[in-house]
Order: sequence, then C-alpha cells, then structure tokens
Amino acid sequence: MAMQYQWYPGHMTKAKRQIQEDLKLVDVIIELVDARIPYSSKNPDIQAMAANKPRVLLLNKADLADAKKNTLWKEYYENQGYLVVPVNSKSGDGAKEVGKVIAQACKEKTERDRKKGILNRPVRAMVVGIPNVGKSTFINTFAGKAIAKTGNKPGVTKGKQWIRLNKDVELLDTPGILWPKFEDQSVGLCIALIGSINDEILVTTELGFELCRFLTAEYPGALTAKYGIEECQDANELLQRFAKKRACLSKGGVLDIDKASGFLLDDFRNGKIGQFTLEQVKQRVDKSENEKTVSE
Ligand code: G4P
Repeated sequence: MAMQYQWYPGHMTKAKRQIQEDLKLVDVIIELVDARIPYSSKNPDIQAMAANKPRVLLLNKADLADAKKNTLWKEYYENQGYLVVPVNSKSGDGAKEVGKVIAQACKEKTERDRKKGILNRPVRAMVVGIPNVGKSTFINTFAGKAIAKTGNKPGVTKGKQWIRLNKDVELLDTPGILWPKFEDQSVGLCIALIGSINDEILVTTELGFELCRFLTAEYPGALTAKYGIEECQDANELLQRFAKKRACLSKGGVLDIDKASGFLLDDFRNGKIGQFTLEQVKQRVDKSENEKTVSE
C-alpha cells in the first residue's frame, strides 16, 4: 500500500529538529531517493542540515528504474559531491557497494581516530528520506537477520538504538523522515505517479493520461510490447485503447477510463510494464538553473 502523507509546517519543524538532533550522533548520512524520480524524491533542505558530514546517496528501487538513467543520475549526484550507489533494498542488491562507500565516506574520520590511537571504532550512520522511498526496507534488509541492537551507550542520548550493519558500521534504527519538495507541481505529479501520495490528490484518470503521455514520448513501444495496443500521440485515445483491451467497461457498457487508469498505474508501479525513470537529468538541471535566476 502506498503511504499517504500530508505535511504541515508544524510537522516539518518537528521533523527537522529531530533530524538535526540525530545528525549530531552520526558520522555519515545515508540519504535514500527513489531511482525513478531522483530529483523529486530528494529533500533540498537536508543539504544545509547535514553541513559538512559525508553523504552517501542511494538510488533505491533501482530495480524499477531505467538502468541507463541510473548511471546518468549517479554521475549527476557524484558531481555534487555525493557517493552514489544504485540499490535494490528489497533484494539486497548493491549491499557490498554500500558498505564500501560508507567506509570511503568515513575515511578521514577513521584516519583521525587512528592518529588519536582509537582503532576499529565503528562508523555511525543514519538513514534519511521522504516517505515511501524504502528506508525501513533498507534498514531491515541491510542489517540482515542478525540485527543486533547495541543499546544505549554512555554519552549517547537515551533511547537511541543502534543496529550493527557489519563490523565497521552502526546504523541508527529510526530513519529520519523528510518531506518532499512542494513548490513545483511536476514534483507532485512524479510522486503521485510512483504511488507515494494519495491518488485522490490527483485524479486517477489524470495520472493515467500523464503516464500514457510520458511512456509514448520517452519509451515508445513499451505499451505496445506489453499490451499489444497501437500507440498514438493522443494520450486520451491511447487510454481508451488500453481500456478496450483490458475490457474495462462500466455498467452501461461504456469504457471505464478511471478503472483502466488504475490498472495501468498498478502495472507501472510494480514494474510490470518495464523499468522506467520519470525524470531526465537534463530537464531537471535546466529547471533548477532557471529557478536560481528567475526568482519570484
Ligand atoms: P519508507 O520506510 O521509506 O516509508 O519505505 P518502506 O521501506 O516502507 O518501503 C515502501 C515500499 O517500497 C514497500 O512496498 C517496499 O517493499 C518497497 N521497496 C523498498 N525498497 C525497494 C526496492 O529497492 N525495490 C522495490 N522494487 N521495492 C522496494 P509496499 O508496497 O509498501 O509493500 P510490499 O509491496 O513490499 O509488500
């Protein structure tokens, strides 16, 4: 079930304060975004909150995204100073690489420790991300079966639980929940398409329409290959063809486009049509450049 959420200024202030407190306890931040929407699922404020901590960025649900685009987004965020790994938290794919980059991120700290004579002190990390990006799944999968809670330690805020990921890394067991960007309608659309906000915010039919438009433009042939329907420029017409093919009829025998859109979205979200990335690096980069110059 997709998580429903709504953020109010009060929530955000509280969440921000909590994250700022927790960040004091860790050496490295592991930020999760959804690989299908690596821009829209990323909270812009964490950058400022994280100050000078090393940052690891996981393109989670990489199994559902376009592999070529994963590479492009990886490069994009690497250029911004992140250590980036595409992962599948459900299967654990990418686990080795995650371990490696955490060690890399903390190299300086480990070095400083060594100079002070502190050896083999585990690195402390914390997971952050907007709802539904897979934070809990990541923690459960990557901590494995042998989740060993290390409990409270002197000098550490009471009640904090740490999970031993491996001999080198400890993870705070509660992830930091961030909020998505709101200012931009296309971000809302992206988040709705992957199913992370309540469909009622955007009408299902509208989402079906947008999905048809996106797929025919960016991945021509994908709908034909999956459903055997002929693609066309007109997304309304295409949605009708899909409804006909899936025999989505309402009582009076007319096509039920809302129902058809629901089926199409389900297939898309579960990766049944293929692996797609909704956001292109170029579009988003151009957009952020414009936003910087055109202030309202
Ligand atoms: P959160 O803590 O950040 O809110 O997210 P959570 O772990 O609850 O994950 C949200 C949904 O995303 C879950 O699906 C989870 O299984 C799925 N998920 C997480 N990581 C991955 C991944 O790397 N690949 C894929 N394909 N899915 C992932 P759900 O629909 O809530 O449950 P279910 O379908 O697993 O039963």
